[in-house]
Amino acid sequence: MSPRPRVLMVPPTYYGIEYEINPWMDRRQPADTAAAQRQWDGLRSVLVDRLGAEVCLAEPQRGCPDMVFTANAGIVLGDQAVLSRFRHAERQGEEPHFAAWFAAHGYNVQRLPDEIAFEGEGDALFVGDTLLAGYLYRSEVRGHQRVGELLGVRTLSLELTDPRFYHLDTCFCPLDGQTAAYFPGAFDEYARRVLAAEVPLLVAVVEEEAVRFACNAVVLGRHVALNTGCPNLEADLRTLGFTPHATPLDEFLKAGGSAKCLTLHLDRQLVRCLDGGVPEVP
Ligand code: ARG
Repeated sequence: MSPRPRVLMVPPTYYGIEYEINPWMDRRQPADTAAAQRQWDGLRSVLVDRLGAEVCLAEPQRGCPDMVFTANAGIVLGDQAVLSRFRHAERQGEEPHFAAWFAAHGYNVQRLPDEIAFEGEGDALFVGDTLLAGYLYRSEVRGHQRVGELLGVRTLSLELTDPRFYHLDTCFCPLDGQTAAYFPGAFDEYARRVLAAEVPLLVAVVEEEAVRFACNAVVLGRHVALNTGCPNLEADLRTLGFTPHATPLDEFLKAGGSAKCLTLHLDRQLVRCLDGGVPEVP
């Protein structure tokens, strides 16, 4: 693993609200291209200068306005990359570009059967060595088990219930192996029970910050990059020993995205081997 954790981003050159595939998108509220570029540059600086990340870039593609949301490219563990299969045709054109990027950067690209929708790290997040995976609006529950088998990890599925929080990373944010922030209203009763059983410390986010995509935060070590306008979560993070770094991302909220959606973790490793509990060499 490189000393600086690497994340994948795509510049917002062709970003825009060109179709509507979630409740946030409204073609009558177009993105301001210059502001989007400034906000994306601002996030990138926070990631590099404050969170200590190395940002890898993939080439933006004309006709792929949501390609900035690299969390949906797939999910990476070690040298394996499980490629997304987008639910909506509007985003399926991104798949070959992300597949080519993963292959060119030494990943073993794994694919799910065509008929199973899976939207990558947008819907699948590690808490320790367990993959928590969201379904209903985008990814399908039967895809989660395939992803778990491909990556060799324990996988638990969580049903999402609020179309505003259509990806797991819009309402759930693992902070470390024991702690996560979440918006309880986005989960069904059983999913809330699974979360309570799996995550020793759950920090609830209030609705007015959940709709600012407070949970859609990038966590690297004890540093957290997130959208502005989430003072309660920022205070909770400080109490827990994390340092929040707020940066404006409203142009991306118009497409239903924020900090986490704009990044994909490239260096995810298991904390422990499943058999003997022997830590992997980082
Ligand atoms: N407009 C994009 C979509 O609806 C936004 C994706 C946000 N990504 C995320 N990981 N939550 O697919």
